[in-house]
Amino acid sequence: MEQIKFMLNESDIPRQWYNLAADLPTPLLPPLGPDGNPVSPDMLAPVFPMNLIEQEVSAERWIDIPEEILNILYRWRPTPLRRAVYLEEFLGTPAKIYFKDESVSPPGSHKPNTAVAQAWYNKQFGIERLTTETGAGQWGSALAFACKLIGLECKVFMVRISFDQKPFRKMMMGAWGANCVASPSSETNAGRKVLEKMPDTPGSLGIAISEAIEQAVTDKSGKTRYSLGSVLNHVLLHQTIIGLEAKKQFEMIGVKQPDIVIGCAGGGSNFAGLSFPFVADKINGANIRIVPVEPTACPTMTRAPFVYDFGDTACTTPLLAMHSLGHSFIPPPIHAGGLRYHGMAPLVCQAIVEGLLEPRAYHQLQSYEAALTWAGTEGFIPAPETSQALAAVIEEAKNAKEEGKEKVILFNYSGHGLMDLTGYDAYLSGKLTDYELPDEEMDKYLKDLESLPKAEVRKSGKW
Ligand SMILES: Cc1ncc(COP(=O)(O)O)c(C=O)c1O
Repeated sequence: MEQIKFMLNESDIPRQWYNLAADLPTPLLPPLGPDGNPVSPDMLAPVFPMNLIEQEVSAERWIDIPEEILNILYRWRPTPLRRAVYLEEFLGTPAKIYFKDESVSPPGSHKPNTAVAQAWYNKQFGIERLTTETGAGQWGSALAFACKLIGLECKVFMVRISFDQKPFRKMMMGAWGANCVASPSSETNAGRKVLEKMPDTPGSLGIAISEAIEQAVTDKSGKTRYSLGSVLNHVLLHQTIIGLEAKKQFEMIGVKQPDIVIGCAGGGSNFAGLSFPFVADKINGANIRIVPVEPTACPTMTRAPFVYDFGDTACTTPLLAMHSLGHSFIPPPIHAGGLRYHGMAPLVCQAIVEGLLEPRAYHQLQSYEAALTWAGTEGFIPAPETSQALAAVIEEAKNAKEEGKEKVILFNYSGHGLMDLTGYDAYLSGKLTDYELPDEEMDKYLKDLESLPKAEVRKSGKW
């Protein structure tokens, strides 16, 4: 058997994160305050600690990873780069399919890469408690894990539908000492308002974010801050360790570069983490196709306009320039809970505007079919979010077969699905259906944005 697991030593771990903001040919549009003017870093201070705000606005290409953070990450990092030879054989494809296995972290996904960093910077800043939202529970469990190791209290608002569908992640959060409640909850003004209007709502990430921010900024002790698991620049930054490791692993085995890089995208963090170091290569002339994948039920990148919109339902965040389905968008309750966010990371969106990325959407059923093909060949059971990426991987591998080309495909195996088995159960018993967001539904949510400042589409025209 040829080698199919490519490991780095602890001493090979990247010691700096990569910041795409330094290399984008057209700079990001700034976040705006309610008055339509750019927000200054100190306006974010009630929500985030200043050391993370500095990263959020940084234009430095490389940012050092503190040794104490690496000391925690060594529990599972560097993660293996693996080759999916069993899937390749099953598909009869000449493509070589590589994946970064982010499912090996204690909570089971890529999310702790930033959870650990965020908890550590908050602790350094004197913060004692973090609040956050979670969709599928991956992020909530990652932050609970990080807070436990670093010594912070952790409060998680979990989107109602996932809270009911995925009880095991809630228990994991409990095991790591966090307090997890269903959102919308009656603990916050934002939650109570939604419950009054829609008592049976499945909830959304936008609502849960509003609740978590409200609890952080209303804590009079000043010792609580909010932590976000995706979307923001500093979150994507922390995830770039994935792509930087992958580059070292490719170098080690003599693969010059991948032809295609694929990742699923909810808020954009695992996709960005794997792909941004390769986006940098593409900016510098490399011929790489880079594909973020989303569900047809929540088609932010493939159908939503590039606009200024709030990151949450209660309009408490600054306005971000991004593709957005509208902050009041309530996504249908598909099982890929982590891909149900109305917006997308501004860095990912600006790269889309530039033409550096080729976003795609897949139906839920095709994703589950891909997940079962994976489970029946590679053996592992992927997270429903990861399965969206797998649908694209399998399509690309089949294209390579038709074209007779030995393409190198790299994708992010963002998490395992062992806590998401209710989705598999629903699929296997024929209860799942496909859903494509109707135009009228999208237009309804986008109406809310008409009075907001417009986002200028700026691009270099190189791609
Ligand atoms: C396993 C997994 N993959 C992907 C995602 C999507 O998030 P992001 O786009 O920030 O990587 C999530 C979110 O919860 C997740 O749990």
